[in-house]
Amino acid sequence: MAARKPKVIITRKLPDPVETRMRELFDAELNLTDAPMTREELEAAVGRAEVLAPTITDRIDADLLKKAGPQLKLIANFGAGVDHIDVSAATERGIIVTNTPGVLTEDTADLTLALIMAVARRIVEGATSIQRGEFKGWSPIWMLGRRVTGKRLGIIGMGRIGQAVARRARAFGLQIHYHNRRPVPAKIAEDLGATYWDSLDQMLARMDIVSVHSPHTPATYHLLSARRLKLLQPHAVVINTSRGEIIDENALADLLAAGKIAGVGLDVFEFEPAVNPKLLKQPNAVLLPHMGSATIEGRIDMGEKVIINIRTWMDGHRPPDRVIPSML
Ligand code: 8YV
Repeated sequence: MAARKPKVIITRKLPDPVETRMRELFDAELNLTDAPMTREELEAAVGRAEVLAPTITDRIDADLLKKAGPQLKLIANFGAGVDHIDVSAATERGIIVTNTPGVLTEDTADLTLALIMAVARRIVEGATSIQRGEFKGWSPIWMLGRRVTGKRLGIIGMGRIGQAVARRARAFGLQIHYHNRRPVPAKIAEDLGATYWDSLDQMLARMDIVSVHSPHTPATYHLLSARRLKLLQPHAVVINTSRGEIIDENALADLLAAGKIAGVGLDVFEFEPAVNPKLLKQPNAVLLPHMGSATIEGRIDMGEKVIINIRTWMDGHRPPDRVIPSML
């Protein structure tokens, strides 16, 4: 007799191979339109799903979880960050939460380096000038950016993605500095040539480029506060491919507008999808629509991880990517 298939509700449209496999394995309810679910639709979903596979665009807070029926056993997030899920509230209700770490590390690190280069070398400004017909021939003093080689990169959060950024940045000749809750193992620091800063304030005051790679938790909300941002040097560049909430975006925009920092490269925003209008006016702000993991390979790998987490749970095992409150 075929095993019973659990009811799995997937909140957004996923790549075709992922959806096909989910249909084979589960009683899968797909979102073919890709329109984000409304609050009412989410409430209905937690009321009937055994497994919910949400994304960052779904707010799974304690109030929503109060609407969950006893059949909801697993929230298998499509994404690494779980700051949109109240993991404690889920755990208290006996609901397991999983995520998709590891498979988006390299893509996110690639995009981080792309942003560093784009801001330092004014790549978007240059490309836009061509589209506008402003290129009238080479000039020795036009489109001058800043050299990357030899500069100091300060990485905030030296987890998987921070380390992948450090590996790439070394190849670009950057000096690697980092701030983290604790130093990484000596072998890793040595391989990366990375210098640990216990004091974030002191690191910020000395860096040429600062790149954020921490998860968003209550402890990292506005980690780059208005006060800390003011410690940056006027030629400093701020990059964020992690979560917008980690930076006081309004303070960042004000500093940029006042010429107190040299540029920003942001793939994430504090009030996503809204972008601070002050940032939109700045030519030295390279702004991307949360594309860090947006490769077809990455998104298929993320889907595969969601499937593995659901399958292991179905088989009565501990899902490999379980998130527990003490990890956050
Ligand atoms: C994801 C991300 O695409 O995984 C993450 O934490 O930030 C993104 O790259 C998104 O979160 C999907 O839920």
